[in-house]
Amino acid sequence: MKAVQVARFGEPGVLTLTELPDPVPGPGQVAIDVTHAAVGLIDVYLRQGLYKDREGLPQPPYVPGLEVAGTVRALGEGVTGFAPGESVVALSSGDGKGGYASVFLADQAHVVSTEGHAIDPALAVAVIPNALMAHVALTGAIRVSAGESVLVHGALGALAATFPGIARQLGASRAVGTVRTERLGAAAATKLPYDTIVDSARLPEVLGGETFDVIVDPVGGPVRAQSLDLLAPSGRLLLVGNASGDWNHGGIDGNRVWYGNFTVTGFNAGGYLPAHPEAFAPAARAALQAATDGLVDVELETLPLAEAATAHQRLENHTAGGRTVLTM
Ligand SMILES: NC(=O)c1ccc[n+]([C@@H]2O[C@H](COP(=O)([O-])OP(=O)(O)OC[C@H]3O[C@@H](n4cnc5c(N)ncnc54)[C@H](OP(=O)(O)O)[C@@H]3O)[C@@H](O)[C@H]2O)c1
Repeated sequence: MKAVQVARFGEPGVLTLTELPDPVPGPGQVAIDVTHAAVGLIDVYLRQGLYKDREGLPQPPYVPGLEVAGTVRALGEGVTGFAPGESVVALSSGDGKGGYASVFLADQAHVVSTEGHAIDPALAVAVIPNALMAHVALTGAIRVSAGESVLVHGALGALAATFPGIARQLGASRAVGTVRTERLGAAAATKLPYDTIVDSARLPEVLGGETFDVIVDPVGGPVRAQSLDLLAPSGRLLLVGNASGDWNHGGIDGNRVWYGNFTVTGFNAGGYLPAHPEAFAPAARAALQAATDGLVDVELETLPLAEAATAHQRLENHTAGGRTVLTM
Protein backbone atom coordinates (compact mmCIF):
# COMPACT_ATOMS: atom_id res chain seq x y z
CA MET A 1 0.00 0.00 0.00
CA LYS A 2 0.88 3.66 -0.39
CA ALA A 3 1.59 5.38 2.94
CA VAL A 4 3.19 8.41 4.51
CA GLN A 5 5.45 7.66 7.49
CA VAL A 6 6.90 9.83 10.23
CA ALA A 7 10.53 8.77 9.74
CA ARG A 8 11.62 10.48 13.02
CA PHE A 9 10.19 13.17 15.32
CA GLY A 10 10.73 16.66 13.90
CA GLU A 11 9.74 19.18 11.23
CA PRO A 12 7.03 18.50 8.61
CA GLY A 13 9.81 17.30 6.25
CA VAL A 14 10.10 14.05 8.24
CA LEU A 15 6.83 12.94 6.59
CA THR A 16 7.95 10.53 3.88
CA LEU A 17 5.90 8.87 1.12
CA THR A 18 6.63 5.14 0.99
CA GLU A 19 5.33 1.68 0.02
CA LEU A 20 4.41 -0.79 2.79
CA PRO A 21 2.89 -4.29 2.72
CA ASP A 22 -0.93 -4.34 2.65
CA PRO A 23 -2.15 -4.99 6.21
CA VAL A 24 -4.52 -7.92 6.81
CA PRO A 25 -7.38 -7.51 9.32
CA GLY A 26 -7.13 -9.53 12.53
CA PRO A 27 -10.07 -10.69 14.65
CA GLY A 28 -12.55 -7.85 15.22
CA GLN A 29 -10.89 -5.60 12.63
CA VAL A 30 -12.16 -4.06 9.40
CA ALA A 31 -9.72 -3.33 6.55
CA ILE A 32 -10.65 -0.16 4.67
CA ASP A 33 -9.62 1.00 1.19
CA VAL A 34 -8.99 4.62 2.14
CA THR A 35 -10.08 7.43 -0.18
CA HIS A 36 -9.65 10.32 2.29
CA ALA A 37 -7.65 10.83 5.51
CA ALA A 38 -8.17 13.82 7.79
CA VAL A 39 -5.22 15.80 9.16
CA GLY A 40 -5.59 16.99 12.75
CA LEU A 41 -3.55 19.13 15.11
CA ILE A 42 -2.94 16.02 17.21
CA ASP A 43 -1.07 14.51 14.19
CA VAL A 44 1.20 17.57 14.29
CA TYR A 45 1.81 17.27 18.05
CA LEU A 46 2.62 13.55 17.71
CA ARG A 47 4.99 14.19 14.77
CA GLN A 48 6.76 16.95 16.71
CA GLY A 49 7.38 14.45 19.52
CA LEU A 50 5.33 16.46 22.03
CA TYR A 51 3.84 13.26 23.50
CA LYS A 52 6.75 10.94 22.71
CA ASP A 53 7.07 9.76 26.31
CA ARG A 54 3.38 8.89 26.79
CA GLU A 55 2.68 5.19 26.98
CA GLY A 56 0.87 3.72 23.98
CA LEU A 57 1.57 6.62 21.60
CA PRO A 58 3.47 5.90 18.37
CA GLN A 59 7.23 5.92 17.97
CA PRO A 60 8.93 6.42 14.55
CA PRO A 61 8.77 5.05 12.02
CA TYR A 62 4.97 5.11 12.08
CA VAL A 63 2.08 6.04 9.77
CA PRO A 64 0.18 9.01 11.31
CA GLY A 65 -3.53 9.80 11.02
CA LEU A 66 -6.54 8.99 13.19
CA GLU A 67 -9.51 9.41 10.83
CA VAL A 68 -10.27 7.91 7.43
CA ALA A 69 -13.11 7.59 4.93
CA GLY A 70 -13.30 4.86 2.30
CA THR A 71 -14.90 1.51 1.55
CA VAL A 72 -14.73 -1.82 3.35
CA ARG A 73 -11.99 -3.98 1.79
CA ALA A 74 -12.07 -7.08 4.03
CA LEU A 75 -13.46 -8.25 7.34
CA GLY A 76 -11.47 -9.91 10.12
CA GLU A 77 -12.66 -12.97 11.99
CA GLY A 78 -15.86 -12.42 13.94
CA VAL A 79 -16.80 -9.10 12.31
CA THR A 80 -20.46 -8.77 11.39
CA GLY A 81 -22.63 -5.87 10.26
CA PHE A 82 -20.35 -4.63 7.45
CA ALA A 83 -20.07 -5.73 3.81
CA PRO A 84 -17.18 -5.36 1.34
CA GLY A 85 -17.59 -2.17 -0.69
CA GLU A 86 -19.68 -0.42 1.98
CA SER A 87 -18.89 3.29 2.51
CA VAL A 88 -17.51 3.97 5.96
CA VAL A 89 -15.70 6.45 8.18
CA ALA A 90 -13.37 5.07 10.86
CA LEU A 91 -11.40 6.35 13.81
CA SER A 92 -8.13 5.06 15.15
CA SER A 93 -8.46 3.19 18.43
CA GLY A 94 -6.30 5.62 20.33
CA ASP A 95 -2.83 4.53 19.17
CA GLY A 96 -2.66 7.69 17.05
CA LYS A 97 -1.64 6.03 13.83
CA GLY A 98 -2.48 4.48 10.51
CA GLY A 99 -4.66 6.90 8.55
CA TYR A 100 -2.23 8.38 5.99
CA ALA A 101 -2.30 5.20 3.91
CA SER A 102 -4.30 3.59 1.14
CA VAL A 103 -5.33 0.71 3.49
CA PHE A 104 -6.34 1.23 7.14
CA LEU A 105 -7.18 -1.34 9.83
CA ALA A 106 -9.94 -0.23 12.21
CA ASP A 107 -11.43 -1.85 15.27
CA GLN A 108 -15.00 -2.74 14.19
CA ALA A 109 -16.34 -0.76 17.17
CA HIS A 110 -14.88 2.42 15.66
CA VAL A 111 -16.30 2.10 12.15
CA VAL A 112 -19.34 4.17 11.12
CA SER A 113 -21.27 3.17 8.00
CA THR A 114 -22.16 6.11 5.75
CA GLU A 115 -23.73 3.83 3.13
CA GLY A 116 -26.97 5.27 1.76
CA HIS A 117 -26.22 8.77 3.07
CA ALA A 118 -25.46 11.33 0.41
CA ILE A 119 -22.36 12.71 2.14
CA ASP A 120 -19.16 13.66 0.32
CA PRO A 121 -16.46 11.37 1.84
CA ALA A 122 -14.10 14.35 2.26
CA LEU A 123 -16.72 16.11 4.38
CA ALA A 124 -17.58 12.86 6.15
CA VAL A 125 -14.01 12.29 7.37
CA ALA A 126 -13.61 15.97 8.19
CA VAL A 127 -16.63 16.17 10.47
CA ILE A 128 -18.07 12.82 11.58
CA PRO A 129 -15.28 11.81 14.02
CA ASN A 130 -15.18 15.27 15.62
CA ALA A 131 -18.99 15.62 15.70
CA LEU A 132 -19.12 12.21 17.36
CA MET A 133 -16.71 13.48 20.03
CA ALA A 134 -18.73 16.68 20.45
CA HIS A 135 -21.84 14.56 21.05
CA VAL A 136 -20.07 12.41 23.65
CA ALA A 137 -18.71 15.56 25.33
CA LEU A 138 -22.10 17.33 25.44
CA THR A 139 -24.05 14.28 26.64
CA GLY A 140 -21.49 12.42 28.76
CA ALA A 141 -18.77 14.73 30.07
CA ILE A 142 -21.40 17.44 30.68
CA ARG A 143 -25.07 17.57 29.69
CA VAL A 144 -26.46 20.33 27.48
CA SER A 145 -30.18 20.83 28.01
CA ALA A 146 -32.87 22.29 25.76
CA GLY A 147 -32.93 26.09 25.78
CA GLU A 148 -29.34 26.50 27.00
CA SER A 149 -26.73 28.80 25.49
CA VAL A 150 -23.27 27.69 24.35
CA LEU A 151 -20.07 29.66 23.67
CA VAL A 152 -17.32 27.97 21.60
CA HIS A 153 -13.75 29.32 21.56
CA GLY A 154 -11.62 28.90 18.38
CA ALA A 155 -15.02 28.56 16.68
CA LEU A 156 -13.77 27.47 13.24
CA GLY A 157 -11.22 24.88 14.41
CA ALA A 158 -11.76 21.27 13.37
CA LEU A 159 -13.14 20.05 16.69
CA ALA A 160 -14.79 23.33 17.73
CA ALA A 161 -16.69 23.64 14.43
CA THR A 162 -18.79 20.57 15.24
CA PHE A 163 -20.03 21.86 18.62
CA PRO A 164 -22.69 24.41 17.51
CA GLY A 165 -24.44 21.83 15.30
CA ILE A 166 -24.41 19.11 17.94
CA ALA A 167 -25.50 21.61 20.62
CA ARG A 168 -28.42 22.63 18.36
CA GLN A 169 -29.35 18.97 17.88
CA LEU A 170 -29.50 18.66 21.67
CA GLY A 171 -31.82 21.67 21.89
CA ALA A 172 -29.44 24.54 22.65
CA SER A 173 -31.18 27.79 21.79
CA ARG A 174 -28.10 29.93 21.20
CA ALA A 175 -24.58 29.25 19.93
CA VAL A 176 -21.91 31.95 19.85
CA GLY A 177 -18.29 31.54 18.72
CA THR A 178 -15.05 33.40 19.38
CA VAL A 179 -12.14 33.64 16.90
CA ARG A 180 -8.92 35.58 16.63
CA THR A 181 -9.15 38.94 14.80
CA GLU A 182 -7.50 37.52 11.65
CA ARG A 183 -10.24 34.88 11.36
CA LEU A 184 -13.20 37.31 11.45
CA GLY A 185 -13.42 37.26 7.63
CA ALA A 186 -13.69 33.46 7.56
CA ALA A 187 -16.16 33.66 10.46
CA ALA A 188 -18.42 35.99 8.46
CA ALA A 189 -18.50 33.47 5.59
CA THR A 190 -19.08 30.30 7.62
CA LYS A 191 -22.17 28.12 7.13
CA LEU A 192 -21.83 26.71 10.66
CA PRO A 193 -24.93 27.30 12.82
CA TYR A 194 -23.55 30.05 15.07
CA ASP A 195 -25.85 32.97 15.92
CA THR A 196 -22.80 35.18 15.87
CA ILE A 197 -19.00 34.91 16.05
CA VAL A 198 -17.03 37.57 17.93
CA ASP A 199 -13.41 38.70 18.16
CA SER A 200 -11.70 36.99 21.11
CA ALA A 201 -9.33 39.97 21.42
CA ARG A 202 -12.36 42.06 22.44
CA LEU A 203 -13.62 39.75 25.19
CA PRO A 204 -15.50 40.22 27.44
CA GLU A 205 -16.88 43.65 26.35
CA VAL A 206 -17.75 42.48 22.82
CA LEU A 207 -20.45 40.22 24.31
CA GLY A 208 -22.17 43.17 26.03
CA GLY A 209 -22.56 41.34 29.34
CA GLU A 210 -24.06 38.15 27.86
CA THR A 211 -23.20 34.98 29.78
CA PHE A 212 -23.47 31.31 28.78
CA ASP A 213 -24.66 28.07 30.33
CA VAL A 214 -21.85 26.13 28.62
CA ILE A 215 -18.44 27.24 27.31
CA VAL A 216 -16.41 24.87 25.13
CA ASP A 217 -12.66 25.60 25.13
CA PRO A 218 -10.24 23.77 22.81
CA VAL A 219 -7.87 26.81 22.79
CA GLY A 220 -6.61 27.44 26.35
CA GLY A 221 -4.44 30.42 27.33
CA PRO A 222 -6.08 33.81 27.95
CA VAL A 223 -9.54 32.83 26.61
CA ARG A 224 -9.64 30.00 29.17
CA ALA A 225 -8.84 32.34 32.04
CA GLN A 226 -11.49 34.83 30.77
CA SER A 227 -14.16 32.17 30.50
CA LEU A 228 -15.19 32.32 34.17
CA ASP A 229 -16.37 35.93 33.51
CA LEU A 230 -18.59 34.64 30.70
CA LEU A 231 -20.33 31.79 32.54
CA ALA A 232 -23.92 32.12 33.74
CA PRO A 233 -24.58 31.06 37.35
CA SER A 234 -24.13 27.27 37.60
CA GLY A 235 -22.46 27.33 34.16
CA ARG A 236 -20.14 24.59 32.89
CA LEU A 237 -16.71 25.17 31.35
CA LEU A 238 -15.68 22.22 29.17
CA LEU A 239 -11.94 21.95 28.43
CA VAL A 240 -11.30 19.91 25.28
CA GLY A 241 -7.83 20.95 24.09
CA ASN A 242 -5.01 23.51 24.17
CA ALA A 243 -4.60 24.65 20.54
CA SER A 244 -2.92 27.90 21.66
CA GLY A 245 -0.01 25.88 23.08
CA ASP A 246 -0.13 28.34 26.01
CA TRP A 247 0.46 26.40 29.21
CA ASN A 248 0.87 29.48 31.43
CA HIS A 249 -2.26 31.63 31.23
CA GLY A 250 -5.15 29.23 31.46
CA GLY A 251 -5.32 29.09 35.25
CA ILE A 252 -8.74 28.62 36.80
CA ASP A 253 -9.50 30.55 40.00
CA GLY A 254 -10.96 28.00 42.42
CA ASN A 255 -12.75 30.62 44.50
CA ARG A 256 -14.55 31.91 41.38
CA VAL A 257 -15.66 28.35 40.63
CA TRP A 258 -16.91 28.03 44.20
CA TYR A 259 -18.82 31.35 44.29
CA GLY A 260 -20.36 30.87 40.85
CA ASN A 261 -21.46 27.27 41.42
CA PHE A 262 -19.50 26.57 38.23
CA THR A 263 -18.41 23.19 36.93
CA VAL A 264 -15.04 22.85 35.15
CA THR A 265 -14.78 19.55 33.27
CA GLY A 266 -12.15 18.04 31.00
CA PHE A 267 -13.01 15.83 28.04
CA ASN A 268 -10.44 13.77 26.17
CA ALA A 269 -11.92 11.18 23.79
CA GLY A 270 -8.78 9.01 23.94
CA GLY A 271 -9.41 8.41 27.62
CA TYR A 272 -13.20 8.70 27.70
CA LEU A 273 -14.31 6.36 24.92
CA PRO A 274 -12.42 3.24 26.06
CA ALA A 275 -14.02 3.72 29.51
CA HIS A 276 -17.49 4.39 28.02
CA PRO A 277 -17.71 2.27 24.83
CA GLU A 278 -21.53 2.42 24.96
CA ALA A 279 -21.32 6.15 24.13
CA PHE A 280 -19.92 5.48 20.62
CA ALA A 281 -22.99 4.20 18.72
CA PRO A 282 -25.48 6.96 19.70
CA ALA A 283 -22.78 9.58 19.10
CA ALA A 284 -22.04 8.12 15.65
CA ARG A 285 -25.76 8.28 14.75
CA ALA A 286 -25.94 11.90 15.95
CA ALA A 287 -22.80 12.85 13.99
CA LEU A 288 -24.10 11.23 10.80
CA GLN A 289 -27.42 13.02 11.22
CA ALA A 290 -25.67 16.35 11.82
CA ALA A 291 -23.64 15.88 8.62
CA THR A 292 -26.77 14.90 6.65
CA ASP A 293 -28.68 17.91 8.02
CA GLY A 294 -25.95 20.41 7.05
CA LEU A 295 -25.19 21.31 10.69
CA VAL A 296 -21.43 20.78 10.34
CA ASP A 297 -20.65 22.26 6.92
CA VAL A 298 -17.01 23.24 7.36
CA GLU A 299 -14.65 24.60 4.72
CA LEU A 300 -12.41 21.88 3.27
CA GLU A 301 -8.88 21.98 1.85
CA THR A 302 -7.91 18.77 0.04
CA LEU A 303 -4.33 17.82 -0.84
CA PRO A 304 -2.87 14.61 -2.32
CA LEU A 305 -1.27 12.16 0.16
CA ALA A 306 2.19 13.03 -1.19
CA GLU A 307 1.67 16.60 0.12
CA ALA A 308 1.15 15.58 3.75
CA ALA A 309 4.13 17.74 4.77
CA THR A 310 2.47 20.82 3.22
CA ALA A 311 -0.73 19.97 5.08
CA HIS A 312 1.17 19.85 8.40
CA GLN A 313 3.05 23.06 7.59
CA ARG A 314 -0.24 24.90 6.92
CA LEU A 315 -1.79 23.60 10.14
CA GLU A 316 1.25 24.73 12.12
CA ASN A 317 1.27 28.17 10.45
CA HIS A 318 -2.52 28.58 10.77
CA THR A 319 -2.72 29.11 6.99
CA ALA A 320 -4.96 26.15 6.10
CA GLY A 321 -8.07 27.28 4.24
CA GLY A 322 -10.30 24.91 6.21
CA ARG A 323 -10.24 21.36 7.55
CA THR A 324 -7.39 19.59 5.73
CA VAL A 325 -8.10 16.23 4.09
CA LEU A 326 -5.57 14.07 2.20
CA THR A 327 -6.77 12.19 -0.87
CA MET A 328 -5.29 8.86 -1.96
N1 LIG B 1 -10.99 16.36 23.50
C1 LIG B 1 -10.74 15.59 22.47
O1 LIG B 1 -11.06 14.42 22.47
C2 LIG B 1 -10.08 16.20 21.29
C3 LIG B 1 -10.35 15.77 19.99
C4 LIG B 1 -9.75 16.43 18.91
C5 LIG B 1 -8.88 17.50 19.17
N2 LIG B 1 -8.62 17.85 20.46
C6 LIG B 1 -7.74 18.99 20.80
O2 LIG B 1 -8.45 20.17 20.46
C7 LIG B 1 -7.51 21.18 20.08
C8 LIG B 1 -7.90 21.69 18.68
O3 LIG B 1 -7.68 20.64 17.74
P1 LIG B 1 -8.20 20.81 16.24
O4 LIG B 1 -7.86 19.56 15.54
O5 LIG B 1 -9.59 21.31 16.26
O6 LIG B 1 -7.20 21.97 15.74
P2 LIG B 1 -7.42 23.14 14.66
O7 LIG B 1 -8.33 22.72 13.60
O8 LIG B 1 -6.05 23.63 14.31
O9 LIG B 1 -8.17 24.25 15.50
C9 LIG B 1 -7.55 24.99 16.51
C10 LIG B 1 -8.33 26.28 16.72
O10 LIG B 1 -7.74 27.03 17.79
C11 LIG B 1 -7.44 28.34 17.34
N3 LIG B 1 -6.20 28.83 17.92
C12 LIG B 1 -4.97 28.32 17.78
N4 LIG B 1 -4.09 29.04 18.48
C13 LIG B 1 -4.78 30.02 19.08
C14 LIG B 1 -4.42 31.09 19.92
N5 LIG B 1 -3.15 31.30 20.30
N6 LIG B 1 -5.41 31.91 20.35
C15 LIG B 1 -6.67 31.72 19.95
N7 LIG B 1 -7.08 30.73 19.12
C16 LIG B 1 -6.12 29.88 18.70
C17 LIG B 1 -7.27 28.22 15.85
O11 LIG B 1 -7.52 29.44 15.27
P3 LIG B 1 -6.92 29.83 13.81
O12 LIG B 1 -7.94 29.28 12.88
O13 LIG B 1 -6.83 31.29 13.87
O14 LIG B 1 -5.60 29.16 13.66
C18 LIG B 1 -8.30 27.16 15.50
O15 LIG B 1 -9.57 27.74 15.33
C19 LIG B 1 -6.12 20.53 20.13
O16 LIG B 1 -5.53 20.85 21.38
C20 LIG B 1 -6.43 19.03 20.04
O17 LIG B 1 -5.43 18.26 20.67
C21 LIG B 1 -9.21 17.25 21.51
